[in-house]
Amino acid sequence: MESITAASRPLLPAYYTDPAVLAAEQRRVFARTWQLAGHVSDLPEPGSRIVARAGDQEVLVVRDEDGELHAHRNVCRHRGARLVAAPEQHAAIRCPYHGWTYRLDGRLIGAPEGRRFAAPLDKPNLGLLPARVEVWHGLVFVNLDTRAAPLADQLYGLDRLVGRYLGDRLVPVGRSRMHDIADPAGTGVVGTEANWKVAVDNYLEGYHVPVAHPGLMRLLDYQNYTAEPSEGYAYFEAPLRETRSANRLERLYQRLVSPMPGLLPEDRDVWRYVAIYPNTMIDLSADCVGVWSMVPDGVGRTLLPGAIYRHRDAGLRTRLAQAVGQRVNRLVTDEDDDIVSRVQAGLRTPGFTPGPLSEREAAIGWFADRIRTDLGIDAPAEDGGR
Ligand code: FES
Ligand SMILES: [Fe+2]
Repeated sequence: MESITAASRPLLPAYYTDPAVLAAEQRRVFARTWQLAGHVSDLPEPGSRIVARAGDQEVLVVRDEDGELHAHRNVCRHRGARLVAAPEQHAAIRCPYHGWTYRLDGRLIGAPEGRRFAAPLDKPNLGLLPARVEVWHGLVFVNLDTRAAPLADQLYGLDRLVGRYLGDRLVPVGRSRMHDIADPAGTGVVGTEANWKVAVDNYLEGYHVPVAHPGLMRLLDYQNYTAEPSEGYAYFEAPLRETRSANRLERLYQRLVSPMPGLLPEDRDVWRYVAIYPNTMIDLSADCVGVWSMVPDGVGRTLLPGAIYRHRDAGLRTRLAQAVGQRVNRLVTDEDDDIVSRVQAGLRTPGFTPGPLSEREAAIGWFADRIRTDLGIDAPAEDGGR
Protein backbone atom coordinates (compact mmCIF):
# COMPACT_ATOMS: atom_id res chain seq x y z
CA MET A 1 0.00 0.00 0.00
CA GLU A 2 1.36 3.40 -0.91
CA SER A 3 2.01 5.75 1.96
CA ILE A 4 0.06 8.97 2.19
CA THR A 5 1.97 12.11 1.42
CA ALA A 6 1.31 15.45 3.04
CA ALA A 7 -0.16 16.63 -0.26
CA SER A 8 -2.81 13.93 -0.19
CA ARG A 9 -5.48 15.75 1.73
CA PRO A 10 -9.14 15.09 1.14
CA LEU A 11 -11.10 17.60 -0.92
CA LEU A 12 -12.86 20.39 0.96
CA PRO A 13 -16.68 20.30 1.11
CA ALA A 14 -17.11 22.97 -1.59
CA TYR A 15 -15.81 20.47 -4.16
CA TYR A 16 -18.87 18.35 -3.47
CA THR A 17 -21.51 21.02 -2.97
CA ASP A 18 -20.71 24.03 -5.17
CA PRO A 19 -22.40 24.08 -8.61
CA ALA A 20 -19.52 26.25 -9.89
CA VAL A 21 -17.12 23.37 -9.19
CA LEU A 22 -19.30 20.98 -11.19
CA ALA A 23 -19.37 23.49 -14.07
CA ALA A 24 -15.56 23.63 -13.97
CA GLU A 25 -15.36 19.83 -13.84
CA GLN A 26 -17.46 19.59 -16.98
CA ARG A 27 -14.82 21.63 -18.83
CA ARG A 28 -11.66 20.51 -17.12
CA VAL A 29 -12.39 16.87 -16.26
CA PHE A 30 -15.26 15.41 -18.30
CA ALA A 31 -14.41 17.22 -21.54
CA ARG A 32 -10.82 15.91 -21.42
CA THR A 33 -10.86 12.40 -20.01
CA TRP A 34 -11.76 8.95 -21.29
CA GLN A 35 -15.30 7.96 -20.49
CA LEU A 36 -16.68 4.43 -20.61
CA ALA A 37 -19.27 4.05 -23.40
CA GLY A 38 -19.90 0.31 -23.30
CA HIS A 39 -18.55 -2.97 -24.62
CA VAL A 40 -17.88 -4.00 -28.22
CA SER A 41 -20.87 -6.36 -27.97
CA ASP A 42 -23.09 -3.25 -27.72
CA LEU A 43 -22.08 -2.42 -31.31
CA PRO A 44 -22.39 -5.80 -33.02
CA GLU A 45 -22.97 -4.87 -36.69
CA PRO A 46 -22.03 -2.27 -39.28
CA GLY A 47 -24.39 0.65 -38.66
CA SER A 48 -24.87 -0.18 -34.95
CA ARG A 49 -24.83 2.93 -32.78
CA ILE A 50 -25.08 3.81 -29.11
CA VAL A 51 -25.08 7.05 -27.16
CA ALA A 52 -22.49 7.60 -24.43
CA ARG A 53 -22.04 10.43 -21.96
CA ALA A 54 -19.01 12.53 -21.21
CA GLY A 55 -20.26 14.54 -18.24
CA ASP A 56 -23.21 16.56 -19.54
CA GLN A 57 -22.32 15.98 -23.21
CA GLU A 58 -23.44 13.13 -25.42
CA VAL A 59 -21.23 11.15 -27.77
CA LEU A 60 -22.55 9.01 -30.59
CA VAL A 61 -20.52 5.84 -31.19
CA VAL A 62 -21.03 4.08 -34.52
CA ARG A 63 -19.61 0.97 -36.16
CA ASP A 64 -18.91 1.51 -39.87
CA GLU A 65 -19.03 -0.87 -42.85
CA ASP A 66 -15.43 -1.97 -42.24
CA GLY A 67 -16.03 -2.69 -38.57
CA GLU A 68 -14.22 0.45 -37.39
CA LEU A 69 -15.70 2.54 -34.59
CA HIS A 70 -16.27 6.28 -34.94
CA ALA A 71 -17.34 8.80 -32.32
CA HIS A 72 -19.25 11.98 -33.10
CA ARG A 73 -20.89 14.68 -31.03
CA ASN A 74 -24.57 13.76 -30.99
CA VAL A 75 -25.72 16.95 -32.72
CA CYS A 76 -26.89 17.70 -36.24
CA ARG A 77 -24.89 20.35 -38.11
CA HIS A 78 -28.05 21.97 -39.47
CA ARG A 79 -29.92 23.40 -36.48
CA GLY A 80 -28.57 21.32 -33.66
CA ALA A 81 -31.05 18.49 -33.17
CA ARG A 82 -29.94 15.55 -31.06
CA LEU A 83 -29.34 12.84 -33.63
CA VAL A 84 -29.71 9.55 -31.77
CA ALA A 85 -31.62 8.80 -28.57
CA ALA A 86 -31.48 5.00 -28.32
CA PRO A 87 -29.41 2.15 -29.78
CA GLU A 88 -30.20 1.65 -33.48
CA GLN A 89 -28.78 0.16 -36.61
CA HIS A 90 -28.98 1.90 -40.00
CA ALA A 91 -26.72 2.31 -42.99
CA ALA A 92 -26.42 6.07 -42.42
CA ILE A 93 -27.08 8.70 -39.74
CA ARG A 94 -30.20 10.64 -40.58
CA CYS A 95 -31.35 13.59 -38.51
CA PRO A 96 -34.95 13.16 -37.36
CA TYR A 97 -35.69 16.89 -37.81
CA HIS A 98 -35.17 17.84 -41.51
CA GLY A 99 -33.39 14.75 -42.70
CA TRP A 100 -29.80 15.87 -43.19
CA THR A 101 -27.95 12.60 -43.68
CA TYR A 102 -24.40 11.64 -42.74
CA ARG A 103 -22.15 8.70 -43.48
CA LEU A 104 -21.21 6.51 -40.53
CA ASP A 105 -17.81 8.22 -40.51
CA GLY A 106 -19.57 11.56 -40.04
CA ARG A 107 -19.31 13.08 -43.55
CA LEU A 108 -22.41 14.89 -44.75
CA ILE A 109 -24.07 13.04 -47.63
CA GLY A 110 -26.80 15.54 -48.34
CA ALA A 111 -29.84 17.48 -47.25
CA PRO A 112 -33.41 17.34 -48.57
CA GLU A 113 -34.17 20.11 -51.09
CA GLY A 114 -30.51 20.97 -51.29
CA ARG A 115 -31.12 23.48 -54.07
CA ARG A 116 -33.13 25.75 -51.80
CA PHE A 117 -30.02 26.84 -49.91
CA ALA A 118 -28.54 30.14 -51.15
CA ALA A 119 -25.21 28.45 -51.90
CA PRO A 120 -24.35 24.79 -52.46
CA LEU A 121 -23.82 23.06 -49.13
CA ASP A 122 -20.15 23.03 -48.13
CA LYS A 123 -20.28 19.31 -47.38
CA PRO A 124 -16.64 18.82 -46.35
CA ASN A 125 -17.15 21.42 -43.60
CA LEU A 126 -20.56 20.24 -42.48
CA GLY A 127 -19.65 16.78 -41.23
CA LEU A 128 -20.51 15.71 -37.71
CA LEU A 129 -18.34 17.21 -34.98
CA PRO A 130 -15.71 14.66 -33.98
CA ALA A 131 -14.95 12.93 -30.71
CA ARG A 132 -12.46 10.16 -29.98
CA VAL A 133 -13.13 6.49 -29.44
CA GLU A 134 -10.78 3.73 -28.28
CA VAL A 135 -11.28 0.10 -27.41
CA TRP A 136 -9.37 -1.33 -24.47
CA HIS A 137 -9.78 -5.12 -23.99
CA GLY A 138 -13.25 -4.96 -25.51
CA LEU A 139 -14.38 -1.93 -23.49
CA VAL A 140 -15.32 1.11 -25.56
CA PHE A 141 -14.24 4.52 -24.29
CA VAL A 142 -14.85 7.99 -25.72
CA ASN A 143 -13.17 11.32 -25.21
CA LEU A 144 -14.43 14.78 -26.20
CA ASP A 145 -10.84 16.00 -26.46
CA THR A 146 -9.68 15.11 -29.97
CA ARG A 147 -6.06 15.67 -28.85
CA ALA A 148 -6.23 13.57 -25.70
CA ALA A 149 -3.37 11.17 -24.98
CA PRO A 150 -4.26 7.56 -25.90
CA LEU A 151 -6.18 5.63 -23.29
CA ALA A 152 -3.65 2.81 -23.50
CA ASP A 153 -1.01 5.25 -22.14
CA GLN A 154 -3.21 6.08 -19.16
CA LEU A 155 -3.80 2.38 -18.47
CA TYR A 156 -0.22 1.27 -18.91
CA GLY A 157 0.45 -1.69 -16.61
CA LEU A 158 -3.21 -2.54 -16.10
CA ASP A 159 -3.29 -5.18 -18.88
CA ARG A 160 -1.01 -7.39 -16.87
CA LEU A 161 -3.22 -7.11 -13.80
CA VAL A 162 -6.70 -7.50 -15.27
CA GLY A 163 -6.56 -8.02 -19.05
CA ARG A 164 -7.43 -11.71 -18.79
CA TYR A 165 -10.85 -10.89 -17.31
CA LEU A 166 -11.86 -8.71 -20.26
CA GLY A 167 -11.97 -8.85 -24.06
CA ASP A 168 -14.46 -9.31 -26.85
CA ARG A 169 -15.55 -12.74 -25.67
CA LEU A 170 -17.59 -11.26 -22.87
CA VAL A 171 -21.35 -11.27 -23.23
CA PRO A 172 -23.78 -9.13 -21.27
CA VAL A 173 -25.86 -10.61 -18.47
CA GLY A 174 -29.24 -9.10 -17.67
CA ARG A 175 -30.72 -6.01 -19.28
CA SER A 176 -28.63 -3.11 -17.99
CA ARG A 177 -26.22 -1.47 -20.41
CA MET A 178 -23.91 1.53 -20.20
CA HIS A 179 -25.81 3.24 -23.02
CA ASP A 180 -28.99 3.30 -20.91
CA ILE A 181 -27.59 6.67 -19.84
CA ALA A 182 -29.08 8.13 -23.04
CA ASP A 183 -32.54 7.54 -21.53
CA PRO A 184 -31.90 7.25 -17.79
CA ALA A 185 -35.53 7.51 -16.71
CA GLY A 186 -36.90 5.18 -19.38
CA THR A 187 -34.32 2.48 -18.82
CA GLY A 188 -34.13 2.64 -15.05
CA VAL A 189 -30.52 3.73 -14.61
CA VAL A 190 -29.70 3.69 -10.91
CA GLY A 191 -28.96 7.02 -9.28
CA THR A 192 -27.60 8.00 -5.89
CA GLU A 193 -28.16 11.17 -3.86
CA ALA A 194 -24.57 12.33 -3.67
CA ASN A 195 -21.99 14.26 -5.65
CA TRP A 196 -20.22 12.02 -8.15
CA LYS A 197 -16.93 12.37 -6.23
CA VAL A 198 -18.54 11.19 -2.99
CA ALA A 199 -19.50 8.04 -4.90
CA VAL A 200 -15.97 7.71 -6.33
CA ASP A 201 -14.36 8.28 -2.91
CA ASN A 202 -16.52 5.53 -1.45
CA TYR A 203 -15.38 3.11 -4.14
CA LEU A 204 -11.75 4.03 -3.52
CA GLU A 205 -11.46 2.77 0.04
CA GLY A 206 -12.07 -0.47 1.91
CA TYR A 207 -11.83 1.24 5.32
CA HIS A 208 -15.65 1.28 5.57
CA VAL A 209 -16.09 -2.45 4.89
CA PRO A 210 -15.97 -3.73 8.52
CA VAL A 211 -18.65 -1.30 9.68
CA ALA A 212 -20.81 -0.64 6.64
CA HIS A 213 -20.73 -4.02 4.87
CA PRO A 214 -21.08 -6.88 7.39
CA GLY A 215 -21.74 -9.35 4.56
CA LEU A 216 -18.61 -8.36 2.63
CA MET A 217 -16.66 -8.57 5.85
CA ARG A 218 -17.64 -12.24 6.15
CA LEU A 219 -16.46 -12.90 2.58
CA LEU A 220 -13.31 -10.78 2.29
CA ASP A 221 -9.98 -11.14 3.99
CA TYR A 222 -10.03 -7.53 5.14
CA GLN A 223 -6.51 -7.56 6.58
CA ASN A 224 -5.15 -8.24 3.12
CA TYR A 225 -7.32 -5.75 1.23
CA THR A 226 -4.93 -3.57 -0.76
CA ALA A 227 -5.26 -0.33 -2.72
CA GLU A 228 -2.58 0.75 -5.19
CA PRO A 229 -3.04 4.11 -6.88
CA SER A 230 -1.04 4.62 -10.09
CA GLU A 231 -0.98 7.71 -12.27
CA GLY A 232 -4.14 7.04 -14.30
CA TYR A 233 -5.95 4.40 -12.26
CA ALA A 234 -6.17 2.74 -8.87
CA TYR A 235 -6.05 -1.03 -8.49
CA PHE A 236 -7.55 -2.96 -5.58
CA GLU A 237 -7.32 -6.54 -4.43
CA ALA A 238 -9.53 -8.17 -1.86
CA PRO A 239 -8.73 -11.84 -1.21
CA LEU A 240 -11.69 -14.03 -0.34
CA ARG A 241 -11.70 -15.74 3.05
CA GLU A 242 -11.23 -19.47 3.26
CA THR A 243 -13.56 -19.87 6.22
CA ARG A 244 -17.21 -20.49 5.39
CA SER A 245 -19.60 -17.62 5.96
CA ALA A 246 -22.39 -18.00 8.54
CA ASN A 247 -24.80 -16.56 5.96
CA ARG A 248 -26.53 -19.10 3.71
CA LEU A 249 -26.36 -17.07 0.50
CA GLU A 250 -22.73 -16.16 1.01
CA ARG A 251 -21.87 -19.77 1.78
CA LEU A 252 -23.56 -20.83 -1.45
CA TYR A 253 -21.47 -18.32 -3.38
CA GLN A 254 -18.30 -19.59 -1.73
CA ARG A 255 -19.20 -23.12 -2.73
CA LEU A 256 -20.12 -22.35 -6.33
CA VAL A 257 -17.55 -19.81 -7.42
CA SER A 258 -15.14 -21.03 -10.08
CA PRO A 259 -13.01 -19.14 -12.62
CA MET A 260 -14.46 -18.21 -16.01
CA PRO A 261 -12.56 -19.42 -19.10
CA GLY A 262 -9.35 -17.46 -19.50
CA LEU A 263 -8.80 -16.92 -15.78
CA LEU A 264 -6.18 -18.51 -13.57
CA PRO A 265 -7.05 -20.99 -10.80
CA GLU A 266 -5.92 -18.46 -8.18
CA ASP A 267 -8.38 -15.88 -9.55
CA ARG A 268 -11.08 -17.90 -7.82
CA ASP A 269 -9.95 -16.60 -4.48
CA VAL A 270 -9.76 -12.87 -5.02
CA TRP A 271 -11.95 -9.94 -5.99
CA ARG A 272 -10.24 -7.20 -7.92
CA TYR A 273 -11.43 -3.67 -8.61
CA VAL A 274 -10.16 -0.91 -10.82
CA ALA A 275 -11.02 2.78 -10.75
CA ILE A 276 -9.94 4.48 -13.96
CA TYR A 277 -9.61 8.22 -13.53
CA PRO A 278 -11.94 9.98 -13.29
CA ASN A 279 -15.15 7.94 -13.05
CA THR A 280 -14.94 4.44 -14.60
CA MET A 281 -15.16 1.45 -12.26
CA ILE A 282 -14.51 -2.19 -13.11
CA ASP A 283 -15.35 -5.01 -10.68
CA LEU A 284 -13.59 -8.27 -11.47
CA SER A 285 -14.57 -11.54 -9.85
CA ALA A 286 -14.01 -15.11 -10.96
CA ASP A 287 -17.59 -15.39 -12.20
CA CYS A 288 -18.28 -12.00 -13.80
CA VAL A 289 -17.13 -8.51 -14.66
CA GLY A 290 -19.12 -5.43 -13.70
CA VAL A 291 -18.46 -2.09 -15.36
CA TRP A 292 -20.01 1.20 -14.43
CA SER A 293 -19.43 4.88 -14.30
CA MET A 294 -20.39 7.79 -12.10
CA VAL A 295 -22.05 10.53 -14.11
CA PRO A 296 -23.01 13.79 -12.39
CA ASP A 297 -26.70 14.63 -12.58
CA GLY A 298 -26.46 17.97 -10.80
CA VAL A 299 -24.02 18.72 -8.00
CA GLY A 300 -25.76 16.49 -5.42
CA ARG A 301 -26.88 13.55 -7.56
CA THR A 302 -25.10 10.88 -9.57
CA LEU A 303 -26.27 8.44 -12.21
CA LEU A 304 -24.64 5.01 -12.18
CA PRO A 305 -25.05 3.41 -15.61
CA GLY A 306 -23.46 -0.01 -15.75
CA ALA A 307 -23.53 -3.55 -17.08
CA ILE A 308 -22.44 -7.02 -16.10
CA TYR A 309 -20.61 -9.43 -18.37
CA ARG A 310 -19.36 -12.96 -18.29
CA HIS A 311 -17.28 -15.06 -20.64
CA ARG A 312 -19.50 -16.46 -23.35
CA ASP A 313 -18.30 -20.00 -22.64
CA ALA A 314 -18.84 -19.79 -18.88
CA GLY A 315 -20.37 -23.01 -17.54
CA LEU A 316 -23.53 -23.49 -15.55
CA ARG A 317 -21.73 -23.45 -12.24
CA THR A 318 -20.19 -20.07 -12.99
CA ARG A 319 -23.58 -18.74 -14.03
CA LEU A 320 -25.11 -19.91 -10.78
CA ALA A 321 -22.28 -18.40 -8.76
CA GLN A 322 -22.83 -15.19 -10.62
CA ALA A 323 -26.56 -15.10 -9.91
CA VAL A 324 -25.90 -15.67 -6.21
CA GLY A 325 -23.04 -13.18 -6.22
CA GLN A 326 -25.31 -10.54 -7.70
CA ARG A 327 -27.76 -10.96 -4.84
CA VAL A 328 -24.98 -10.50 -2.33
CA ASN A 329 -23.80 -7.51 -4.30
CA ARG A 330 -27.19 -5.82 -4.34
CA LEU A 331 -27.10 -5.59 -0.56
CA VAL A 332 -23.66 -4.02 -0.71
CA THR A 333 -24.88 -1.52 -3.28
CA ASP A 334 -27.81 -0.53 -1.04
CA GLU A 335 -25.45 -0.11 1.89
CA ASP A 336 -23.19 2.13 -0.19
CA ASP A 337 -26.16 4.12 -1.43
CA ASP A 338 -27.10 4.91 2.17
CA ILE A 339 -23.55 5.88 3.12
CA VAL A 340 -22.90 8.24 0.24
CA SER A 341 -26.17 10.09 0.74
CA ARG A 342 -25.25 10.52 4.43
CA VAL A 343 -21.91 12.01 3.43
CA GLN A 344 -23.54 14.39 0.96
CA ALA A 345 -25.98 15.56 3.65
CA GLY A 346 -23.18 16.04 6.18
CA LEU A 347 -20.92 17.95 3.77
CA ARG A 348 -23.43 20.81 3.76
CA THR A 349 -22.60 21.59 7.39
CA PRO A 350 -21.10 25.10 7.66
CA GLY A 351 -17.64 25.09 9.22
CA PHE A 352 -17.04 21.38 8.56
CA THR A 353 -13.67 20.36 7.17
CA PRO A 354 -12.70 16.72 6.64
CA GLY A 355 -10.42 14.92 9.08
CA PRO A 356 -7.22 13.05 8.16
CA LEU A 357 -7.20 10.11 5.75
CA SER A 358 -6.26 6.64 6.93
CA GLU A 359 -3.59 4.66 5.15
CA ARG A 360 -6.49 2.54 3.87
CA GLU A 361 -7.82 5.67 2.15
CA ALA A 362 -4.68 6.32 0.12
CA ALA A 363 -6.59 6.16 -3.16
CA ILE A 364 -8.90 8.97 -1.99
CA GLY A 365 -5.80 11.13 -1.61
CA TRP A 366 -4.72 10.13 -5.12
CA PHE A 367 -8.11 11.07 -6.55
CA ALA A 368 -8.23 14.37 -4.61
CA ASP A 369 -4.79 15.31 -5.92
CA ARG A 370 -5.84 14.58 -9.49
CA ILE A 371 -9.05 16.60 -9.20
CA ARG A 372 -7.19 19.55 -7.65
CA THR A 373 -4.62 19.45 -10.44
CA ASP A 374 -7.25 19.25 -13.18
CA LEU A 375 -9.34 22.09 -11.74
CA GLY A 376 -6.28 24.34 -11.37
CA ILE A 377 -7.37 27.96 -11.00
CA ASP A 378 -11.02 26.85 -11.10
CA ALA A 379 -10.64 25.07 -7.75
CA PRO A 380 -12.79 26.51 -4.92
CA ALA A 381 -11.38 29.78 -3.56
CA GLU A 382 -10.69 28.36 -0.09
CA ASP A 383 -8.44 25.76 -1.71
CA GLY A 384 -6.29 28.15 -3.71
CA GLY A 385 -8.55 28.73 -6.72
CA ARG A 386 -10.18 31.94 -7.79
S1 FES B 1 -31.58 20.00 -37.35
FE1 FES B 1 -30.93 18.20 -38.31
S2 FES B 1 -31.74 18.34 -40.29
FE2 FES B 1 -32.36 20.16 -39.35
FE1 LIG C 1 -18.87 0.09 0.00
